[in-house]
Amino acid sequence: SKEVILSPSLLSCDFARLADELGALKDAGLQWAHLDVMDGLFVPNITFGPPVIKAMRKHSDLFFDTHLMIERPERYVNEFVDAGCDLICVHAEATNHLERAVAAIADQGVQCAVSLNPATPCEAVKYLLPQLDMVLLMSVNPGFGGQKFIPFCLEKIRELRGMIDQAGTDTLIQVDGGVTLENCRELVQAGADVLVSGSAFFKFPPYAERLQAFQQAWQ
Ligand code: DX5
Ligand code: ZN
Repeated sequence: SKEVILSPSLLSCDFARLADELGALKDAGLQWAHLDVMDGLFVPNITFGPPVIKAMRKHSDLFFDTHLMIERPERYVNEFVDAGCDLICVHAEATNHLERAVAAIADQGVQCAVSLNPATPCEAVKYLLPQLDMVLLMSVNPGFGGQKFIPFCLEKIRELRGMIDQAGTDTLIQVDGGVTLENCRELVQAGADVLVSGSAFFKFPPYAERLQAFQQAWQ
């Protein structure tokens, strides 16, 4: 069976103890941390930005999987690279010039991803697949943790899997929103490579046991 990555969304951790939480993830055997950046415009919520990520970087060598839910993300690519992000994911709906944003990220030598809201067709990334390390399929409307998986998103995973296989690229499929122990197996079977989990992960310490529970559930 293929390797699947769990990327815990820090949105559901204790923001006052970010360094401790990152250390606990590392100790539990996780390799990725999902950072949800929200600007109060693209989504109706505000979280944190480059200064906080830069501070986190000093305490952690985890892979910083950075999900930008901000308008015109191309304005801030350099800041997020300088802060220490390993991967930068921009929303197709957040810029009029998606190819330019993607190229700007790749130019900086970090990994590059595009995210699609639930109602945005997979077609939006078709011509960019050769340039993308990952495509993030949102399976809830972005902005908040703890929402329910939108059922039609399962079909989008299968469709995108087919497009990537057809294109012959090694682009990963990430699924974000409402991922649980109960649904993770069918997401992996549909073609997901990276699963984001916020509430279904952080509410159930110890983290090493929770990671194991996910691995057993999707195997
Ligand atoms: C939602 C964020 C997600 C969120 C997932 O806008 O992009 O990363 O933290 O949280 P859960 O797993 O609770 O749906
Ligand atoms: Zn996210």
